Amino acid sequence: MNLKESIRVIEGFPKEGISFKDITTLIGDGETFKQSVDAFVEYLKDKKIDVIVGPEARGFIFGVPVAYAMGLGFVPVRKPGKLPAETIRMNYALEYGTDSLEIHKDAIKKGQRVAIIDDLLATGGTIEAVAKLVEEAGGEVVTLGFTIELTELNGRDKLKKYDVMSLVEYDV
Ligand code: PRP
Ligand code: MG
Repeated sequence: MNLKESIRVIEGFPKEGISFKDITTLIGDGETFKQSVDAFVEYLKDKKIDVIVGPEARGFIFGVPVAYAMGLGFVPVRKPGKLPAETIRMNYALEYGTDSLEIHKDAIKKGQRVAIIDDLLATGGTIEAVAKLVEEAGGEVVTLGFTIELTELNGRDKLKKYDVMSLVEYDV
């Protein structure tokens, strides 16, 4: 099965007009889950990456196995109040209102080359906040990698200064 076929599309979730891309079917299948992790590893393998960063919750699903496969560490970016040591916080815009994400201040060493991985590029707001956190923590953002990219939302426009890659694209 190819990756796109393994993603279940649910129309009208979580509300009318939204065509939800459900990765649970992709990760529930050993072959397509491995295929997706291997594709990230293949793309990143010559980029001299020092550490993988991913935002909770769905960014952990792909970021952690990629880090493991590459023999690298994984740094979690979390919703506020979850990380126990000193953090840096970044606010970002949602469709309605704002949200925040945090990273441990000491999680990245100065100059480390970072690949950020998440399941989905929609508007790009989440990953832009993650990239800023990495930079503020002293890291260099080398690549932003996504399992799915919703091209119509033009997330890439917001992320022009970064190398952006995705495994599967949808135009709606
Ligand atoms: C979803 C998804 C991405 C983000 C993409 O996360 O997992 O992280 O939205 O949207 P954007 O490009 O418009 O920012 P969500 O905040 O729903 O949380 P979750 O990963 O914890 O499910
Ligand atoms: Mg998410």
